[in-house]
Amino acid sequence: MTPGDGESPLPGGPARRRGPFRAGERVQLTDVKGRMYTVVLTHDGFFQSQRGSFRHADLIGKPDGTVLDTPTGHQLLALRPLLSDYVLSMPRGAAVVYPKDAGQIVQMGDIFPGARVVEAGVGSGALTMSLLSAIGEHGHLLSVERREDFADIAIGNVESWFGGPHPAWEVRTGDLADVLPDAVAPASVDRMVLDMLAPWENLAVGADALAPGGLLLAYVATTTQLSRFAEELRETEQFTEPRAWESMVRTWHLEGLAVRPDHRMIGHTGFLITARRLAPGTTPPKRTRRPAKGAYPADAGEAGATGAVVEDWTPEALGERPVSDKKVRRVRRDVRRRAEIEETGLASRPPGE
Ligand SMILES: C[S@@+](CC[C@H](N)C(=O)[O-])C[C@H]1O[C@@H](n2cnc3c(N)ncnc32)[C@H](O)[C@@H]1O
Repeated sequence: MTPGDGESPLPGGPARRRGPFRAGERVQLTDVKGRMYTVVLTHDGFFQSQRGSFRHADLIGKPDGTVLDTPTGHQLLALRPLLSDYVLSMPRGAAVVYPKDAGQIVQMGDIFPGARVVEAGVGSGALTMSLLSAIGEHGHLLSVERREDFADIAIGNVESWFGGPHPAWEVRTGDLADVLPDAVAPASVDRMVLDMLAPWENLAVGADALAPGGLLLAYVATTTQLSRFAEELRETEQFTEPRAWESMVRTWHLEGLAVRPDHRMIGHTGFLITARRLAPGTTPPKRTRRPAKGAYPADAGEAGATGAVVEDWTPEALGERPVSDKKVRRVRRDVRRRAEIEETGLASRPPGE
């Protein structure tokens, strides 16, 4: 066996990404108008759309990248989805970390093979998949999610992508501040990624869990969260000066001489902020550059160093669309049903079930 020849048992590894299409696997179809559909291929399945219909059996056994001439006279391009395609099409409970940010988190968070990583919350499991891919089977990712229904959806999504449980993944439900001290030894975690409304609430447990030099990264949606996190992080005196940034990705239209940015782009997703854990007993070096005049109100009082009088860190207060319980129940059902289809390769349930 030569390295990378497809025999690796690594979950989500080459064996699942190569070779002809198989029943039970996901395929992304693109019609001539560029509309995309994701289907799980089954022996008995039938795909129907206004721009092409076919029996799944006609695609099973064909190579990835096939253009299928359908019996209805249309053409459909069939490709195995990339992780970035899957993340944007999978069922969601909570909002997901977009691929452009997941890429930044893996790179700037230095998520390395074999790393011991903690993430919270898990939400729909989008970032989880990038973290698991980066640490590989010899790392360890502890994912903590306070909502059991979200954790359930995330497990369904992650296992569907990797084709089963990932050996490096542990999921626990509960609040990070309660779960973490019992779950990991002090000073043992290499990297910690927080994607939640109030990440500053976990600075103390995070500082205890992180190894000296370990990296803490938070992903927040608003400047008010960014500011509060930065100020409370400084107050701990256990971390280096935080660095914050955002990334923007502008796609391009490429046609003949009409080569220009697309008219639309995703204007805002979130901000990233990182800091490194100092060695125990060390305090941060004195900052020689003073904060700009007026950066901290003289009388911040109860409002805290940022001057922001925000008590209610709810999704609504931060302008996020809340997810209804009904929607979460539906997504959970869909995820379970998809797992059944992937396992059996059949769209229909056997009679009597
Ligand atoms: C935006 S979602 C995370 C999305 C996820 N990173 C993804 O890419 O799919 C935020 C999640 O954090 C969870 N959460 C918020 N505070 C938490 C805490 N203190 N401990 C554990 N989970 C928490 C919420 O229930 C929610 O599912």
